[in-house]
Amino acid sequence: MAKFWYFLCMILLIESFKLVDSNRELVITPPLPILPLPKSSQLKWQERELIMFLHFGVNTFTDSEWGTGHESPAIFNPTGLNASQWVEVAVEAGISLMILTAKHHDGFCLWPSKYTDHSVVSSPWRNGHGDVVGDLVTAAKARGVDVGLYLSPWDRHDRRYGKEKQYNEYYLAQLQELLRKYGNVREIWFDGAKGSNAPNMTYDFGDWFAMVKELQSSINIFSDAGPDVRWVGNEKGFAGSTCWSTINQTSLSIGNASIVDYINTGDPKGTDWLPAECDVSIRPGWFWHKSQKPKKLSKLLEIYYNSVGRNCVLLINVPPNTTGLISETDVQRLREFRNAIDTIFSTNLAENSAIKASSRRGGKDSDFGPEKVLDSDHLWTFWAPREEDDEHWLEIKAANEGLRFNVVRIQEAIGLGQRIKRHEIYADGKLVGKGTTVGHKRLHRLGGVVHASSVKVRILESRGGVPLVSSFGLHFDPFWHPHGHPLSNGSRF
Ligand SMILES: *[C@@H]1O[C@H](CO)[C@@H](O)[C@H](O)[C@H]1NC(C)=O
Ligand SMILES: *[C@@H]1O[C@H](CO)[C@@H](O)[C@H](O)[C@H]1NC(C)=O
Ligand SMILES: *[C@@H]1O[C@H](CO)[C@@H](O)[C@H](O)[C@H]1NC(C)=O
Ligand SMILES: *[C@@H]1O[C@H](CO)[C@@H](O)[C@H](O)[C@H]1NC(C)=O
Ligand SMILES: *[C@@H]1O[C@H](CO)[C@@H](O)[C@H](O)[C@H]1NC(C)=O
Ligand SMILES: *[C@@H]1O[C@H](CO)[C@@H](O)[C@H](O)[C@H]1NC(C)=O
Repeated sequence: MAKFWYFLCMILLIESFKLVDSNRELVITPPLPILPLPKSSQLKWQERELIMFLHFGVNTFTDSEWGTGHESPAIFNPTGLNASQWVEVAVEAGISLMILTAKHHDGFCLWPSKYTDHSVVSSPWRNGHGDVVGDLVTAAKARGVDVGLYLSPWDRHDRRYGKEKQYNEYYLAQLQELLRKYGNVREIWFDGAKGSNAPNMTYDFGDWFAMVKELQSSINIFSDAGPDVRWVGNEKGFAGSTCWSTINQTSLSIGNASIVDYINTGDPKGTDWLPAECDVSIRPGWFWHKSQKPKKLSKLLEIYYNSVGRNCVLLINVPPNTTGLISETDVQRLREFRNAIDTIFSTNLAENSAIKASSRRGGKDSDFGPEKVLDSDHLWTFWAPREEDDEHWLEIKAANEGLRFNVVRIQEAIGLGQRIKRHEIYADGKLVGKGTTVGHKRLHRLGGVVHASSVKVRILESRGGVPLVSSFGLHFDPFWHPHGHPLSNGSRF
């Protein structure tokens, strides 16, 4: 009899579990991604936002931009070189990756390459025992900063240049030296720059890229054509006002002037995730020249809005001087630049506002509500509307005294693909800003300061139909004086 009761109880228990299970609400899943997607190394690169380029070499000592290849190594003597100072300047500017010209077109090598004597070994600097690449790697590691390298394909010194097999072997040998000797290298920069009367020769980019990937698993390869990061098509630091991270890689080739417009804007139908990097120098030249000064803060901010604010990463060149240090004027300007970015973006004026949206994927308790655009995760938490709807918008309503701003920031959850094709921003029902792509980050500087009690973002068109917005911000930029006039807080776009 006891056995009977025992079995009855067990059966009731099992039945009651089944009941609970069938009534349990399933957690609403994120939507399917829209291909192509970023690789993890590309996502990491994108989140850096700023990268430092360092152009340094014999040109620093000859006051030139393109060396001839006939420079004597005797001129290279940066007696006060301190790579820790470079790294400190980068850290202060919020930069986590520094790319050095290990060799520029003149062929002079900043590390003691065993395949040439046209290097630091033949210079008076540290009696030929110096290694600029090694110094940077050591100093960067001590501060948790990552390192990247540029090794110019065009070489005006080496006599193997122009002899296809020999030069490709030489180049590949140096790549192996650099990528085996100095630990992790996070980005490598290739370009097709060469003079019009340079000897004819083909670079084996395919072989070089394969070797790079073999030796460094987390590296991003930059070139006009990727494969991981593409050039933006100019040296002004400006992306297109439409800028897709997607593009057709098969349409690209290195050193081909006819692709500059295509790589500036990308392609909404592109089959490859290949985001753009905007390279520009803080000074007029890439190398240090005594006569040159850094760009004004207003110019640097314009570059920031047109690069980082258009879904790109800004690669800003800061050239060390003949002493081997970054000049105080540049240090100051970078400090002002960082301070300005922090001043503008550390406060999100929308933060304490009420937010609502046209709809929410999965209903009212799902993970995809509009409040997700105000949290601190700008990648993996996001607002997603219902797929059935054809109108998508987000609306911020000021808590009490109203909103006063001149910058609007919108970010997409790019981990699930880049989608937004067209959007508009309204303040109290009036159009104040509009644009096409958003991507990782879209910044709009408005025509003047806007006072409003409500701000609405309408997403008019998206790849795959549904936009996924990961972050939204309203900011005040006190450095922004449109048309040279002081801010008039009543004016509208
Ligand atoms: C090199 O620069 C670092 C960082 O600015 C500084 O702390 C250090 O004292 C410098 N070293 C020398 C030898 O000047
Ligand atoms: C390079 O080769 C092309 C065709 O192969 C030729 O037209 C051109 O004149 C050559 N240039 C030089 C500098 O030798
Ligand atoms: C340069 O790019 C254009 C446009 O994609 C292409 O038609 C042309 O073949 C390319 N030229 C070379 C030399 O790759
Ligand atoms: C890129 O490739 C896609 C897929 O093949 C194609 O639909 C699109 O037209 C291409 N873009 C351009 C500009 O050719
Ligand atoms: C290079 O910059 C350092 C730091 O500002 C400065 O002390 C030095 O005089 C500069 N060298 C030259 C040649 O301007
Ligand atoms: C500018 O804003 C302040 C308060 O934020 C207000 O007192 C002032 O009247 C405004 N000026 C104009 C010209 O709208």
